[in-house]
Amino acid sequence: MLRRDLLLGAAALAVNAAAPSPLLADRADDSELFRGFGPDFAWGVSTSAYQIEGAVDVDGRGASIWDMFARVKGNIRGNETAVIAADHYRRYRSDIALVAGGGFRNYRLSISWPRIMPAGTGAVNARGLDFYDRVVDQCLQRGVTPWICLYHWDLPQALQERGGWLDRRIGHWFAEYATAVSRRLGDRVKHWAMINEAAVHAVIGHGFGAHAPGLRGRASYAAAMHHQNLAQGLAIAALRAERGDYRLGTVMCLEPIRSATPRDRDVAAARYFEAIWKGASIDPLLKGTYPELLAEEFAPLIRGDDMAAIRQPIDFLGMNYYSELHIQSDERSPLGVTFGPPPPGSVLTAMGWPIEPQGLYRQLIELRDHYGNPPIYIAENGAAFADQVDADGQVHDPGRVGYFRVHLRAALQAMRQGAALRGFFIWSLLDNFEWTEGTTKRFGIVYVDFDTLTRTPKASYTWFANGLNWHG
Ligand code: FCB
Repeated sequence: MLRRDLLLGAAALAVNAAAPSPLLADRADDSELFRGFGPDFAWGVSTSAYQIEGAVDVDGRGASIWDMFARVKGNIRGNETAVIAADHYRRYRSDIALVAGGGFRNYRLSISWPRIMPAGTGAVNARGLDFYDRVVDQCLQRGVTPWICLYHWDLPQALQERGGWLDRRIGHWFAEYATAVSRRLGDRVKHWAMINEAAVHAVIGHGFGAHAPGLRGRASYAAAMHHQNLAQGLAIAALRAERGDYRLGTVMCLEPIRSATPRDRDVAAARYFEAIWKGASIDPLLKGTYPELLAEEFAPLIRGDDMAAIRQPIDFLGMNYYSELHIQSDERSPLGVTFGPPPPGSVLTAMGWPIEPQGLYRQLIELRDHYGNPPIYIAENGAAFADQVDADGQVHDPGRVGYFRVHLRAALQAMRQGAALRGFFIWSLLDNFEWTEGTTKRFGIVYVDFDTLTRTPKASYTWFANGLNWHG
């Protein structure tokens, strides 16, 4: 079973706003919790281009691999597409006003590569850059610092047709694209993340075949992983050469990986999964090596000074955390492993993901103890629940407030024990197009009615606004 399919059976068990578990019990005032992070802590919200923008054929944008993937019947729940998504392309002004209104001083957005370079390389589409130019200016006018993520899974389809992440030339294609964006926005944007969750893109998109571009097997997984690492390194070096005032990093999905059962084969599967998911992204960047377990798989891909190109100094590491991962072996899986059930008795979100804040703490401590304690920003953390607008016109989401509360506590605990945690970006500002789940899974602190596209801030939004205003 894939992580994103787990919810099929689990949705019924999902935490229900009316019956919060003791873990999520509500408490009115969390100002002390927020204050605990100190005045210099960066609070932010995250989004990604494909999930919110819509306008897929507007102003010269080229097709992306997700446009193609979503067109295939059965790939997305209800056969939805992201043609409209949350219509952010047209509503960005009021959406950015919502960022500021929630007390957030930082906004992580991603740039759609096919808007900037419809063919993936070469000609730059000025209208695509114009859009992000307006977004950046809007942020700055509202006192919000933009953090740009250059790649959140929406590869230009034109590049997929040339091999996409399986072709090592993509390292140079990506650096070329990154440079074009930097030259337009770099006078105002200082915080740059290269790639969102390269491992998720490689494992689920190029190994399991469950995300775009729908490729399966170990060889395509390994090629996509190595070439993303390479592209990330080349782009960091290119941006570093562009300007001296940048803060450069990348974003990884990091969490403790566990065996779903004590059976030997599941324990071995979890060890392998830890290598392909976590080790293959973090080790090359921070240590210049791949995990031992993968040496054979990656050897044919590594050329010349690849490992030196990948191991770039970074100013920060973005860490996405939702839950721990519970892994089991599965002969039918193209990678021999799959996402297993969470421990019995777990409290689940609408995704079927268990609520495990202690995993966030443990992961931060692991980074402190085994990876040289790099400066960390939580770049995503959040939860989907079955929200609705109630008769009073409000969206009451105590489950989400509870989720954030326990994760913030875990983060603070790690920080007090020396983890170099510098900021916390929540996922997400808006309900959006949640990949294969379409619009059925709501992660926003702002509710989006997908018929009218009206925005309604949820109770969790107000909770942040109250909590963050202590220093504002
Ligand atoms: C992360 C993705 C993000 C969103 C959340 C729920 O893996 O980066 O786009 O789908 O999961």
